[in-house]
Amino acid sequence: MDCELILPLDVPDESRATELLDRVGSEVAWVKIGLQLFTRHGPGIVERIAARGYRIFLDLKLHDIPNTVASAIASLGHLPIDLLTLHASGGREMLRAAEAMKNEVRPSLTLLGVTVLTSTDAAGLAEIGIDASPETQVLRLAKLARAAGIGGLVCSPLEVGRLRETLGPDVTLVTPGIRPAGADADDQKRIMTPGAAARAGASFIVVGRPILRAPDPAAAARAIRAELTSA
Ligand code: C5P
Repeated sequence: MDCELILPLDVPDESRATELLDRVGSEVAWVKIGLQLFTRHGPGIVERIAARGYRIFLDLKLHDIPNTVASAIASLGHLPIDLLTLHASGGREMLRAAEAMKNEVRPSLTLLGVTVLTSTDAAGLAEIGIDASPETQVLRLAKLARAAGIGGLVCSPLEVGRLRETLGPDVTLVTPGIRPAGADADDQKRIMTPGAAARAGASFIVVGRPILRAPDPAAAARAIRAELTSA
């Protein structure tokens, strides 16, 4: 199964994003636009970056009542996006309403369920009344999202093998927390190399700082893609 690289545009504003894309050029095909750029520049930034030829992962992590999430997806339906996140903990009805709306407005879009944020540990779950381990909760929410028809999931590299095994070949699995061998881990605690994540069953890997901070971001992206191809 092919695994593709996604570059997160973790920069404060559009001019920095544009500078970065001028440097990476076509060495990446996919970029992730998150809340930082979307809330600053609005949906127009998605159109402008897509017009440069990039495919877009819009990481908005939607979570609200079913009608509101479905309405937000209706509002996003005209945007050239391929992947969009929402919180699986929004529950079955929210997930179903979201999937039904995306099938109406943009069938080619894949919704990705976010299970448990990696910033939340067992103690954090307990504080919000969930007495399950993060691993158990991830699997529960992943199954719930799939049962509601959601096409994919965002997961940590350490979960990707188990989710691929449990959920089969059709689910799209997107994983951050990737570091090429020898790269600085930064604040990522549980990391995997691009090749290992691809072999474990990731459909996409999200790699930020090892590319963003490289003296030659295009070369860094090219090396990661070469590792994915040989995996
Ligand atoms: O720089 P780095 O490769 O760590 O960036 C990873 C990207 O994936 C960032 O945009 C980060 O917000 C995102 N992410 C993550 N861990 C998660 C979920 C998202 O690192 N659990």
